[in-house]
Amino acid sequence: MSQAEIASLVAADLLRVERFIKLDAVCSVDAVTEISRHLQSSGGKRLRPTLLLLSAGACGAKDDSPIRLGAAVEMIHAATLVHDDVIDDAEVRRGAPSTNRTWGNQTSVLAGDWLYMQAFRIAIRQRNFRLLDLLIELTQTMVEGELLQTQMVARLDVSEKEHLELIERKTASLFSVCMRFGAMVGEVDRPTEDALASYGRNLGVAFQLIDDVLDFSSTEERLGKPVGNDLREGKITLPLIRALRQCTPEERRAIETVVREGGYETTPQSQILATLQRYGTIESTLQTAREYVDAAADDLMQAPESRYRHALASILQMVVDRDR
Ligand code: IPE
Ligand code: IPE
Ligand code: MG
Ligand code: MG
Repeated sequence: MSQAEIASLVAADLLRVERFIKLDAVCSVDAVTEISRHLQSSGGKRLRPTLLLLSAGACGAKDDSPIRLGAAVEMIHAATLVHDDVIDDAEVRRGAPSTNRTWGNQTSVLAGDWLYMQAFRIAIRQRNFRLLDLLIELTQTMVEGELLQTQMVARLDVSEKEHLELIERKTASLFSVCMRFGAMVGEVDRPTEDALASYGRNLGVAFQLIDDVLDFSSTEERLGKPVGNDLREGKITLPLIRALRQCTPEERRAIETVVREGGYETTPQSQILATLQRYGTIESTLQTAREYVDAAADDLMQAPESRYRHALASILQMVVDRDR
């Protein structure tokens, strides 16, 4: 299925999600409303609500629950982006100045908190304790992920296992919950729900591995957010973890220098890229992402066959091939 076909499958519902967010992200303090509008209008792929809607479709959901929950997960995502950009000191998000850049850190942190709570307020309308329980667990897991990441900053001895666990928390957990919510508001048994949640987790890991690769291989223009930022911030992602295992002391010192100086003034980014190229670790990270995607494709086979399932299968390839 092509990207356009997938888009048309969820277009009407996604529009309703957008409207829902717009109406529900209105706060009595203008700055919060403005931040929410700014995030909504500056772009974003809406991947999480799309997954939720497709999962709900595949599972035969019939009422408006997927719309509400789609809005809730996108608002949680928006809240994590706002907080993440404060933590990462990022200047650009979705092709526009980041909220921390425009409104400052203090306002951004509080607006993120507000968005989190608004997402919970929307979810609570479902009157479903299990759903809330999952949402709370999710939020704590994601926050733990960001906390673990700050503890891992500038550590050049991070293991693959540690890194993958981090990715599972900070990114894959939300993808997994999106798929599970879609299943929960549908009519499938628990093993199918678990399989779809597993699809989300595997896809989420692949998605973040590609995000980490794009931080090396793409441009700010294309991504709408800074590149080369991970190493600058001392985040050692998989291509670097693998290169560090094999590189010369000189190459290691170059990597250390970027982290210490917090930039590429004395060690150009091209030099780091050459090291990754030399050990083929961008390619091997892509290969690992493909393995996660294959596992997700297996998970998907447990869902009933439908055009929604076809769409979910096609998304897998798109995530691996994406360039933004
Ligand atoms: C960015 O997510 C955060 C990561 C988990 C890498 P997206 O790449 O889905 O961001 P938007 O929503 O499209 O801006
Ligand atoms: C994504 O990590 C973490 C979130 C859950 C927001 P990144 O720090 O790599 O995300 P980007 O690259 O800023 O979008
Ligand atoms: Mg970031
Ligand atoms: Mg990133």
